Amino acid sequence: MPVLQIMSIIVLGSINTDLVIRSQSLPQPGETVLGGEFYRAAGGKGANQAVAAARSARDPVIFLAAVGDDSFGQESLSALRSENLDTRFLKVVPGQPSGVALILVAASGQNLISVASGANLHLRPEDIHAVPKEVWQNARVFVACLESPLETVIAGLRHAKQSGLTTIVNPAPADREIMFAVGLRLIDVFTPNETEAALLTGREVRSSADAEAAGRQLQTAGCSRVIITRGEHGCCVLDDDVVEHLDAIAVEAIDAVAAGDVFNGALATALSEGRSLIEATRWASRAAAISVTRRGAQPSIPTRDEIELNASRGSDSPT
Ligand code: RIB
Repeated sequence: MPVLQIMSIIVLGSINTDLVIRSQSLPQPGETVLGGEFYRAAGGKGANQAVAAARSARDPVIFLAAVGDDSFGQESLSALRSENLDTRFLKVVPGQPSGVALILVAASGQNLISVASGANLHLRPEDIHAVPKEVWQNARVFVACLESPLETVIAGLRHAKQSGLTTIVNPAPADREIMFAVGLRLIDVFTPNETEAALLTGREVRSSADAEAAGRQLQTAGCSRVIITRGEHGCCVLDDDVVEHLDAIAVEAIDAVAAGDVFNGALATALSEGRSLIEATRWASRAAAISVTRRGAQPSIPTRDEIELNASRGSDSPT
């Protein structure tokens, strides 16, 4: 009888090639900013989350996603195949361009991102139904962002819940439909940033009190565990009745692209290993803090050793 390899994490999401210009400041609409430096990097919120989980996990991570049959798609696939990922469910969509993100990064680390989703929009619920039952039953944690069609994300959530997985949804980019479509019922851990929390709740989220109020509103909408990531202001973690405000880890940020994705991927690893929500949030925050000190999306993602070395210097050394 074949031995089934443990693969604890399933990520469903997007794959993009990031075309980045780094300059002193971000242009205003109608303005041209000169003097920038151009580079290309592997990106896509889903791929960043999958790679963050894969570099921090001990076992391979399953990734469900789609690329086009162009050169960007080929490059993305070969880069993903070199990671600790099970890529057998990655789909190549004939005649479609692969996802591309145009990204502007300022010297302050702030960024603007515009995405042409291309083949990412062709990841269909049928692709998710085609993943064998034993793959779901063998896993512990499912992660999705919202750069894939909502019906596909929901198909993934349904399979995950049917098999008893912990589900994490990072509502990036924010889409209020997720609130109505599933009423957050299928989501165990919901991880908006401040901007996304504001869009989803219709309230301003700038202070820790705002974050807590938005988190409470999202809990009322149906998800009992909410983490609002607040960049340099840390995280607001709501776990049923318990609320904790965690400080950010002080680092010199040069590029915040993919920081949220790294947080979610590392969070998936920590939760799949049985850590509590607070412990997992601390560990994921360390991973995200390392990533903002480096440029590019996937090139910035730390390994498990780097996160552990960093954690052992702080107070939250993992077991
Ligand atoms: O979160 C960062 C990511 O958003 C980038 O890698 C880009 O591809 C967009 O998906």
